[in-house]
Amino acid sequence: MEELLQKIESYQLEITAATAVNAEEAEAFRIKYLGTKGIVKAVMGEMKNVPNEKKKEFGLTLNAFKQLAEEKYEQLKQNAGTGSSTKKEAIDFSLPGDDIQLGNRHPLNIVRNQIVSIFGRLGFAVAEGPEIEDDWHNFGAMNLPEDHPARDMQDTFYINDPAVTGGAAWLLRTHTSSVQARVMEKQKPPIRVICPGRVYRNETISARAHCFFHQVEGLYIDKNVSFADLKQTLYFFVQEMFGKDVKVRFRPSYFPFTEPSAEMDISCLICKGDGCPVCKHTGWVEILGSGMVHPKVLANFNIDADTFTGFAFGMGIERITQLKYRVNDLRLYSQNDIRFLKQFSGAL
Ligand code: PHE
Repeated sequence: MEELLQKIESYQLEITAATAVNAEEAEAFRIKYLGTKGIVKAVMGEMKNVPNEKKKEFGLTLNAFKQLAEEKYEQLKQNAGTGSSTKKEAIDFSLPGDDIQLGNRHPLNIVRNQIVSIFGRLGFAVAEGPEIEDDWHNFGAMNLPEDHPARDMQDTFYINDPAVTGGAAWLLRTHTSSVQARVMEKQKPPIRVICPGRVYRNETISARAHCFFHQVEGLYIDKNVSFADLKQTLYFFVQEMFGKDVKVRFRPSYFPFTEPSAEMDISCLICKGDGCPVCKHTGWVEILGSGMVHPKVLANFNIDADTFTGFAFGMGIERITQLKYRVNDLRLYSQNDIRFLKQFSGAL
């Protein structure tokens, strides 16, 4: 008992004399005296060895000891923050804080959302489908049977070789027409959808081509849908997208899934039609393919071509973004260079 009291006394002297020049030293003090394996706990543990008649007196001594350690710790902590020692490395709360960087949307997403919003105002709903497709939805249903030479228009990544596996061919979709096929499969006309999404083609990556890119395709099937509707819809789209001054022209073209087919050009926004490298000095840039849905495609989905007609179109989001924001290299879109991406902050 005597011995214990002496020990406490010497600890008290130690505590009174203790100093701390920084937060770490104050913490070391706390651990030594007040931690779960600290001296105060250990001394408290001695209580059980104290004879009953002395317990009350000893309890008071212990409490005072504990209080002393706690008060000292509070004091050390405070001094550590404001002390004058050169060793201190306290936090300087007067320094300006670190900027919290705000992220922003990717340019392709910004343009995708704009396209979706413009067609949304015309009553087009968004439809989505899988990026890994079967041969039928990507090609067959779109009037591109096996061995059709037009398959060469879209170099394809095949996932399996049906000749080897004996099953159906799986591939990475080459256009979002596959989503149109899935919509026609499930829904009866009237159909009015746009299909935004990523597509893949087996291309060598360069400033002008990439092995994946993004499309928005559209499909409108109803009674009395005409080529005039197609023209007016697409004209409305480019005016909303690029402004009222933009001119359009349609050139006859070929797609197996539309007849007649046309590609649409807009007047070059960079040189205003005078001729520049972007428009290859023609004053015009191609932005989409379109046409009246081929009767064979309608027949593939049991849609009566005598009652219903429709138009379809497809455009690359990269191309629209290039014209809108003057991006001259396709690779920039997927390099994740923050200096490129930051230029689009503020846009929604
Ligand atoms: N699917 C075509 C392509 O990816 C684009 C297109 C869609 C053309 C609809 C005409 C009609 O090249």
